[in-house]
Amino acid sequence: KSHSVWVSRPLFPEVLATLAQYVDVSVEPKESKRTPEQLRAKLAHVDGAIVGLGDRIDAGVLAGNRRLRAIANLGVGYNNLDVPALTAAGIVATNTPDVLTQTTADYAWALLLAAARRVCSAERWLRAGRWRGGMRFDDWLGVDVHGKTLGILGMGRIGQAVARRGAGFDMKVIYHNRSRLPDAVERECRAEWVEKSELLKRADHLVLVLPYNAQSHHAIGATELEHMKPTAVLVNIARGGIVDDAALAVALREGRLAAAGLDVFEGEPSVNPALRELDNAVLSPHIASASADTRRAMAQLAADNLLAALGHGPNAGHPPSLLNPEARGRRTGET
Ligand code: GLV
Ligand code: GLV
Repeated sequence: KSHSVWVSRPLFPEVLATLAQYVDVSVEPKESKRTPEQLRAKLAHVDGAIVGLGDRIDAGVLAGNRRLRAIANLGVGYNNLDVPALTAAGIVATNTPDVLTQTTADYAWALLLAAARRVCSAERWLRAGRWRGGMRFDDWLGVDVHGKTLGILGMGRIGQAVARRGAGFDMKVIYHNRSRLPDAVERECRAEWVEKSELLKRADHLVLVLPYNAQSHHAIGATELEHMKPTAVLVNIARGGIVDDAALAVALREGRLAAAGLDVFEGEPSVNPALRELDNAVLSPHIASASADTRRAMAQLAADNLLAALGHGPNAGHPPSLLNPEARGRRTGET
């Protein structure tokens, strides 16, 4: 075969089989944190790679690489890719939008409901055998979800899908996004645009769904947390670093926020020990897109993107989720 690709973690066998129809494939036996030097070595002798959110691909990793032509990211968020550096090197980059939108929105609700109604801490208590010791009528009081105000920070596809589900809980939906949605979309989501300060003040449940970048770093920090209701629930399914985890842990501990549901963390897979000690934080290991159907669809889309970028398969030359069309043709000697 004329091309070889590297896959940075195990994928579904049928997806690897699709790749193997066209290219030589080497797959890492497990997902693990790699140093830039290790990544550079892995990428040195392949034409393309499927990488995950833990693989940081930047100018340093690409330095001296004359062969690589395509990077397919396994995920919709791609803050792990330095896209300008990839473009400058003539390397095509792709992500996996759309296929995970609904599943990820479902999971935001799983965390919201679990945090609001204390599902996980109550379960820990039951498993510890403490129910038999007696329970009071006013134990395990959570906060209501139905009829409350749902706030959404970041109103892309996933944010809109979270918003639409609010109607089923009779919620008032408000959102903040740098750009307002068209009226028709606002109506369809039953969502009203508000300033960020108003969103913080009014939301009973605040879901974060914005991409991570320099502007969204610590978009929720100590100051923002101070403006939220002490009865509010915060849900982060976006990225670690959007919330100042240390400040959040303090707010949760001091009762200045009722609860949080967190799927992503600053510096994950490490999780701030202060958060791990809190009963009013529901914590999960970045699994919002992890349904059987959706993870398979993401892997398949990443493979389709990679094959297409290398000129193979039904979409040859036209990766379905291309992030940097400008990259094409920049490698010398290519068209
Ligand atoms: C997951 O976090 C993704 O960006 O797909
Ligand atoms: C974010 O909301 C996205 O789907 O891109």
